[in-house]
Amino acid sequence: MSVMRVLVSGGAGYIGSHTVVRLVAAGHDVVIVDSFANAKPTVVGRLEALTGTDLPVHAFDLTDKDKTERLFATEKFDAVIHFAGLKAVGESVQIPLDYYVNNLESTFSLLRAMRRHGCDLLVFSSSATVYGEVAPVPYQEDYEPLSASSPYGRTKVMIEHVLRDVAGIDERLKVAMLRYFNPVGAHPSGTIGEDPQGIPNNLMPFVAQVAVGRRERLQVFGGDYPTADGTAERDYIHVEDLAAGHVAALQWIASHDRKVSTWNLGGGRGTSVLQVVAAFEKASGMPVPYDIVGRREGDLAAYWADPSRANAELGWRAERTIDEMCADTWRWQRANPDGYPD
Ligand code: UFG
Repeated sequence: MSVMRVLVSGGAGYIGSHTVVRLVAAGHDVVIVDSFANAKPTVVGRLEALTGTDLPVHAFDLTDKDKTERLFATEKFDAVIHFAGLKAVGESVQIPLDYYVNNLESTFSLLRAMRRHGCDLLVFSSSATVYGEVAPVPYQEDYEPLSASSPYGRTKVMIEHVLRDVAGIDERLKVAMLRYFNPVGAHPSGTIGEDPQGIPNNLMPFVAQVAVGRRERLQVFGGDYPTADGTAERDYIHVEDLAAGHVAALQWIASHDRKVSTWNLGGGRGTSVLQVVAAFEKASGMPVPYDIVGRREGDLAAYWADPSRANAELGWRAERTIDEMCADTWRWQRANPDGYPD
């Protein structure tokens, strides 16, 4: 395996930061670009401590074409892992244009700079949300047509189409689209983790904040789904497994000819909201009081990945259990009850 110089966009964010640690451990040379719109600069020092290296960081928004062009003109990258983007489903309904402009333009700006400067490998953060509302479970990569029920999700669908079209005419570009299921957990050191701003939208950070005493009770959205305990089921994947999946995908596309690869990164099984609550109480030893309330608009009852393509081609597997996901989330939450310092 050859060593690569990798630009990680959104490298200060939740999944990006964990992937940076794995890339360095695999011997790659990492450069971060992040707007810090949704990440704290203090994460960088934590990453340098974890990796034992200096990490070059460029603080700008990739929608700025000139700055992106200048970065590629001054540094030579073999690959880009593109995490940067807006990601809150509910917010995307309120400010759709911001989502379309930010997520699409940052990708366009990267693609132009990559083409101009001979950078031919791109790993893109897609989402299980592209399977839409009627795909059969477990979700398989070949399912079509892609669709999504929020502006956020539609940016992922659109970018997948853009990447397919561009890779189709660019002789050298190779693309990996990674469809994430529900990333949770934190680095086992407890020094980096998910740091949502304001009230968490997602289940695991909300549960962790209840356990640590920052919020009083969890609202469980829907208790009448057609599932074993009536609460919705998702395919939770430890962020460390997810990060390892990025390194495996990058190395795979570097050494194979296929132009476009799509891989589900999930564990292949569903876990209900109440099972997450029970696992978290066990891992933390803290109570997580909850109320079952109405369903959240747009939520599906149950879905999970068919991860067999990634298992077979990448030799990758989501190994960590829901108990480990909760234990690692708890270690991070307890050590950093208010997230990263300013
Ligand atoms: N949930 C609660 N209470 C909460 C938060 C969540 O009961 O306070 C429930 C949700 O209703 C859902 C489950 O916990 O059943 C998981 O919810 P998350 O918000 O953690 O995750 P989602 O599955 O809704 O969202 C994920 C990704 C998005 C993606 C979306 C749609 O985070 O990026 O799936 O596929 F767009």
